[in-house]
Amino acid sequence: MKILITGRYGQLGSELHDLQANYPQYQIVFVDREEMDLSNADQIIEVLDKEQPNVIVSAGAYTAVDKAESDQQLCDAINHLAVKTIGDWAAKNKVKVVHISTDYVFDGNSETPLKETDTPDPINVYGLTKLKGEEALQTSGAVYVIIRTAWVYSTYGANFVKTMMRLMNEREELGVVADQIGTPTYARDLAQAIMDVISAQNFVQGIYHYSNEGKISWYDFAVAIKEINGYTTKMNAIASDAFPTPAKRPNFSLLDKTKIKDTYSVQVPNWRTSLEEMIAKI
Ligand SMILES: NC(=O)c1ccc[n+]([C@@H]2O[C@H](COP(=O)([O-])OP(=O)(O)OC[C@H]3O[C@@H](n4cnc5c(N)ncnc54)[C@H](OP(=O)(O)O)[C@@H]3O)[C@@H](O)[C@H]2O)c1
Repeated sequence: MKILITGRYGQLGSELHDLQANYPQYQIVFVDREEMDLSNADQIIEVLDKEQPNVIVSAGAYTAVDKAESDQQLCDAINHLAVKTIGDWAAKNKVKVVHISTDYVFDGNSETPLKETDTPDPINVYGLTKLKGEEALQTSGAVYVIIRTAWVYSTYGANFVKTMMRLMNEREELGVVADQIGTPTYARDLAQAIMDVISAQNFVQGIYHYSNEGKISWYDFAVAIKEINGYTTKMNAIASDAFPTPAKRPNFSLLDKTKIKDTYSVQVPNWRTSLEEMIAKI
């Protein structure tokens, strides 16, 4: 079986690349912007025609959430139109697609863990383009699994954990938003979940939610990063209003993981265990 994975040098793409040694039975091809520019439909089709994968993992995306507010066209081309092109090609060639989406397809007003059946209402431009990508894949006729995830971090790339560690090194005091609730996702764990889905006996089409287990705020996350690293930075819990950003962020983005656990027997580690693992590795 041949698997083609987009977003080679992203957080998730890099973790999938690390995992490939555990799957010698698969031929895995990674592509990034150089080999396959996701804003170029002709190039997407050209590469897929050449590689002829049996499974496509769509991990590449426009992820600059704040920039997306003023860069809607490019964000839509990558997060929506590229997914449509991939879906159409996959339908025509009878190929499966595992696509990664986001909690930002929701408005953040829920008070209970978000289920796959909850109605999306994107909170920002990035979330809207990701939802359009989901819908395009669902209507393409391709066999698909869409995994919505949230708060992704890794030893690779730029993310909250690495930013906090840099700031805690530089500053004596730090304010972190305490009124946005969710669960972080170690990209390594998400990569493993994707490989579990691909390797399962039955590929059960649908939308799934995946993050680590637990329920915390960004402030709680930052405090744990401080404790695990042994920093002495004074931490202040602040409200979202005190930290305005161009794109709105959800107050609540806790994902219910029951469906992916039940369907694919995916293990979902606790957020703190995975954070400790990542920090030990960095
Ligand atoms: N990060 C999060 O907190 C988060 C939360 C929820 C959902 N997600 C979703 O999870 C998936 C993986 O995210 P991630 O954290 O791994 O993102 P990431 O680290 O930002 O990586 C995104 C990847 O997409 C590639 N890419 C961007 N524009 C491209 C283009 N025009 N052509 C080809 N490749 C392009 C990037 O290439 P370059 O390296 O060249 O830029 C990079 O390899 C994405 O679908 C994202 O929407 C992420």
